[in-house]
Amino acid sequence: MSEGAAVSDGQREPRHGLRLLTLWIVLSAICCPLFYILAGPHMPPGDMSSSAAGQQFDFNVLATIATPVVLGVLIYFGYALTFWRAKDDDETDGPAIHGNTRIQVTWISVTSAIVLALAAFGTVELWTVQGAGAGEGPQPIWKPDSSNILQVQVIGQQWAWTYRYPQFGGFETTQLELPVGRPVQFNVTSLDVIHGFWAYQLGVKADANPGVNNVAYTTPKHTGSFVVRCDELCGLWHGAMFDYGKVVSVSAFNTWAQQTQVQLASVTKILPPYAMTYDPTDIASLGKVLTQLGIGGAGGGYYSPNDPEQP
Ligand code: CUA
Repeated sequence: MSEGAAVSDGQREPRHGLRLLTLWIVLSAICCPLFYILAGPHMPPGDMSSSAAGQQFDFNVLATIATPVVLGVLIYFGYALTFWRAKDDDETDGPAIHGNTRIQVTWISVTSAIVLALAAFGTVELWTVQGAGAGEGPQPIWKPDSSNILQVQVIGQQWAWTYRYPQFGGFETTQLELPVGRPVQFNVTSLDVIHGFWAYQLGVKADANPGVNNVAYTTPKHTGSFVVRCDELCGLWHGAMFDYGKVVSVSAFNTWAQQTQVQLASVTKILPPYAMTYDPTDIASLGKVLTQLGIGGAGGGYYSPNDPEQP
């Protein structure tokens, strides 16, 4: 203060705080809506499903809140470089500063308010998007409010995904097809090690644990294809453990499911009956049966790498 007073003897020191605040408010008022409107629709993971759209909205809200924070840092940095630059040959220290109650109280209040508000926002978002596309374990607490839910069992195995459709006789296939507009319940499990079912454009991510039925929900909103990846390191070919799924019209889905049910009927008969989890020791013997029948893989790609009888 004494130095400021000394300066103001000659010329009035400008009100830096007010200048910075004005600059910050004006730029934030321009950049926040600009970001939300221009970048928002392109934020990952898109809006192909209810859960993806929910995640995209969350990212947009977080990024829009982060925009004034980033602006604050950059504006202060630029302002300090421009106006508080030391003169050449000035090697003196600045005045010593000891605390500032107003800044400390403001800082703690604002950051606490942001964190608590985001915690409330996150909880509401989990709830309204029925778990936000994440695995909720065997007893999900957030479910879609619908009696017309399509069940799809997702089975991870080294190193492929297969899918069973219990409402269509329990056939098993390597193709994941979903109807648009109908809530889907994924029952994610594994035959061997921990895999991670990650349908990127659907915004669905759930660990596939052996002996566990991990439930995740989403409702596809748009037709098109999406990628399914494994997101838990699960062995040598983890990186190759991906495929593509499709969201199609309701009539195209029903046609596909009914046809596949008929086509695979002979294989479905010898599969283990539909269950929430499977015993991995069934699988080696099943591979043998399929090979003997000459339909190894047709029923959904059971393949035992250690089995010498496999072609
Ligand atoms: Cu399966 Cu990584």
